[in-house]
Amino acid sequence: MDTSDLTPCRPQDFGKFEMTHRDGCARLGKLHTKHGILRTPTLLPVVNPNILTVKPRRMLEDFGYQALITNSYVIWKHDDLRKRAMEEGVHSLLDFPGVIMTDSGTFQSYVYGDVEVKVDEIVRFQREIGVDIGTMLDVFGRPDMSREEISSAVQLTADRAEDSLREAGGEILLNGPIQGGLHEDLRAQSANMMSNTTHLGRGFSVHPIGGIVPLMESQRYSDLFTIILASSSELPSSRPMHIFGCGHPMLFPMCIALGADLFDSAAYALFAKDGRILSEEGTHRIDTLVEWPTHSRQISNLTPNDVREMEKSDRTALLAKHNLEVTQRELARCREAVRNGSIWVLAERRSHSSPYLRAAFEKVSESMKLEDSSPISSRINTIVMATNPVRPSSEPFSSDIYNRPHIRHARLLMEQRWRMPGSWSDGSSGPPKEIAILQGGNPPWRISHGQVVQNILSLEPRTIIFVDTPMGLLPYSLEDLSPWCRVEGGEDIEFMKSEEKTILRSLKKIGLQGINVSYYGPSNTDYEKNQRIRSWIERCSLVDKLSILCGVNPLDGCVLTEGTDTRHSNTGRPVNVFKDGKHLFSPRLNDGGISLALEGAKALHSLRSKHVGKSKKSQSQRNNTDHPGVPSVTLHSDAVPFVGAGRNVMHGFIEHADSWLTVGQPCIVMDLEGNFVAHGTSNSTSEEMAVLKKGVAVRIREGILEKK
Ligand code: GUN
Repeated sequence: MDTSDLTPCRPQDFGKFEMTHRDGCARLGKLHTKHGILRTPTLLPVVNPNILTVKPRRMLEDFGYQALITNSYVIWKHDDLRKRAMEEGVHSLLDFPGVIMTDSGTFQSYVYGDVEVKVDEIVRFQREIGVDIGTMLDVFGRPDMSREEISSAVQLTADRAEDSLREAGGEILLNGPIQGGLHEDLRAQSANMMSNTTHLGRGFSVHPIGGIVPLMESQRYSDLFTIILASSSELPSSRPMHIFGCGHPMLFPMCIALGADLFDSAAYALFAKDGRILSEEGTHRIDTLVEWPTHSRQISNLTPNDVREMEKSDRTALLAKHNLEVTQRELARCREAVRNGSIWVLAERRSHSSPYLRAAFEKVSESMKLEDSSPISSRINTIVMATNPVRPSSEPFSSDIYNRPHIRHARLLMEQRWRMPGSWSDGSSGPPKEIAILQGGNPPWRISHGQVVQNILSLEPRTIIFVDTPMGLLPYSLEDLSPWCRVEGGEDIEFMKSEEKTILRSLKKIGLQGINVSYYGPSNTDYEKNQRIRSWIERCSLVDKLSILCGVNPLDGCVLTEGTDTRHSNTGRPVNVFKDGKHLFSPRLNDGGISLALEGAKALHSLRSKHVGKSKKSQSQRNNTDHPGVPSVTLHSDAVPFVGAGRNVMHGFIEHADSWLTVGQPCIVMDLEGNFVAHGTSNSTSEEMAVLKKGVAVRIREGILEKK
């Protein structure tokens, strides 16, 4: 492991959380603590100071666990542990140089009915023994409690919050747990109250979701995901979300996709004691195994029989280490999936591990269709909108494909912003006469159907052409846009055709009714290539991408792209677009998106100013909600010289961010007067820009002050 992570954070960073990578609401982050940077998502193994199944130092050095969680109430209750912790501190007591989180005794009160410690006393104790992240004494809401009882647990927890923050002071970070049982509204209310409580300007640093252990024991994963969605609907993205007592590797991908940053669990030790091993797909009893259904360094040279014959304590330690290793491996896989944008596909794959998990996954997928004002709907919307709709990776076809957040986002943008061309390839204007649907063939459709398209347009220029894709109808002008052009499914998709009624319904949704629809298969016939048609398609593609990905009004797009020259790649694809010798845009070959060049970004900025004026006030008064213009980020004045010179926009230096910013897509950066400063791609949503205080918010491509 990287030991530089163990160095204390700078005082000004204490408790700050930054996001380094993201895939929707799944993120890789860094929480800055006194015992170093805690990299998320991660799991904190539960360490019982009375029974060290695996020594904490081994967890760090052999398995790379940077952080653990122990129970301050257990330490407080045992005189010798308490004395040692007070004298030498909790890090020395456990011989662990990494980050130590402690729990407060709430779980003991759930198991035994009560605890003897007071609310302020347990936080003071955690501060005195030098923990990094303590936990207040929340009130455990059991699933079998009545709504009234749960509601009062939520209220009592909130009532204790400020005193707990006062007691923690500025020395330790504090967990503010969310309760609320199975009630979505109470979870949201709890999250709202806990995240808004402060003392002397300091709030909680982490929000664990509590009260879920009984659900985990009976595999009620659907309830688990509902609770995560409802709670996170009211949590600020500047604080990590922890799932108390959730530690089965098969649950990590979905929890992380929904926004979980931290997990803790004693499962590694409890299961080991019971002769069970974890894998990313389930749990296996070792008593009847002949061969291993999973692997790890711990068991690779042993047979299940060898392990069964071991002495009990050695066997438990060995299986616990196996469980720790498997847990780390799945977390690493999840982190990599966040980096490469495939966390949802991983969750989809894992959902087949258990019928309970599959049902839970399907329920989340179904909730993508909700259009109410519930906390679940609101969080799902946040996840979809926080997901970069365009990505260069391949898109594995499955029946779940429609509900992947990036695909939903891409489809929503297309349905909202795509408009039919304002004029046709023969220079005429007026309503369309025909609709052509291209069917069959794998992408790229310009290869399978390019010739057919030429023919269709030369016979009737006033034709709107769509591709019938496994993800719905796609305007032909966007045929190289990923995810549509990256669907992989072999023959499954090659021969897939939507039913006519589905096609007509989709056309109606985008305002195209009563026009004759014809269907065309792929063709190799070499029709005459018409340069005029080719240029017209390229221009439509540019206008449509500016409109869908950058929010530019298509009429403005038409004006902007009039009289442009295009440079093509060796394979004939457009790569640079110029006007009057100035480089405006670069269509991207790898994902079909569009990159702005400095002059193009300035042109989009002027269009914005033309429509809305420069002041921030007028931005919110804009009436074109479908095409609000290229999104902008307004900087604090002290950041302007840096960003103008090409440095990235950092969180904490942002005055305002437009609500329609799209993660991973172009945006412009302005000063307080609305003048153009730079352009780049946004890493964050507008909500994140409002609350995060560290990390890169906009990756700058070019600043106006850069020397060329
Ligand atoms: N450990 C498992 N569940 C909980 C909970 O709800 N609250 C606290 N403080 N600890 C837990």
